Amino acid sequence: MQIHKHKSNGILSGEDLGFMQLKFSRDRRDMLKTTGTLVGAAALASVGDSLNAFAQAKQAPGVPVVGDSLNYVDGPKKGQAAAVADIVVDAAPVTAVATDPATGQPRRNEGESDNATVLLYRVDPFKIRSDMQRDTVQGILCYSAVCTHMGCMLSDWDAPTKCFMCPCHDATFDPLQDGENLAGATSRTLPSIPIKAVDGKLVVAGEPSGYVGVKGVS
Ligand code: FES
Repeated sequence: MQIHKHKSNGILSGEDLGFMQLKFSRDRRDMLKTTGTLVGAAALASVGDSLNAFAQAKQAPGVPVVGDSLNYVDGPKKGQAAAVADIVVDAAPVTAVATDPATGQPRRNEGESDNATVLLYRVDPFKIRSDMQRDTVQGILCYSAVCTHMGCMLSDWDAPTKCFMCPCHDATFDPLQDGENLAGATSRTLPSIPIKAVDGKLVVAGEPSGYVGVKGVS
C-alpha cells in the first residue's frame, strides 16, 4: 500500500519513508560494522595480551624484562648500569644483572637473581654474524649466565677459544655462534638477550631467545 501524503504538510510520503528505511538500514549496518570492528579489535587486543602473558609464562620467574638496565654484579662500579664504553673488546665477559628500573632492584626468583644474571661480551662488530647483529650493540653481545645443563652460573671463560664455560661439568658455549653448546656436558643453546643502548647505557631490548636456565625448573 502506497502513502500519498506530502512532507510540506509535515507528513512524510511513502518515498520519504522508503528513504528513511533505507537510511536506517545503512546506519544500522554501519553501526553493526563499527561494533564488529570494535569487538574484533578488542578480541585482537585480548589475544595480544594472552600471547604476552604466554611469552612471560613460558620463562622461569626473574628473567630479564624489556627496559631493564644491566647493572654490574661486582668490581669498582658494582650496582651501576653497564655502559657501552666500559665493555672492552675481546676482554673476558662482564657479569651484570637485569635490574627493574621502577624499583632499582635486580629481578629475582624466590630471592635469587640467577635468572636475571647475564654475560656481556664485546668483539669487533664485523665478527658478529649478520643474523645476530640486530640484538647487539656496537659489538656487545648479551647472554644468560645460567648454564642450560643443570643451572650453574657460567663463571669461567676459556680465553683461547673465547667461549663461556661452566665450572660444574665443563659445558662450553660459543658467543659468536649464537650460544651454541660446543663441548662438555650436552646442553641446550645458551639464550641470548637482545640489548640496545640508551644514553650510552645498556638496556634489555627484547625477550630471551630461549628458556633461561634448566628447562622445566624454575
Ligand atoms: S651445570 Fe653446567 S655443565 Fe652441568
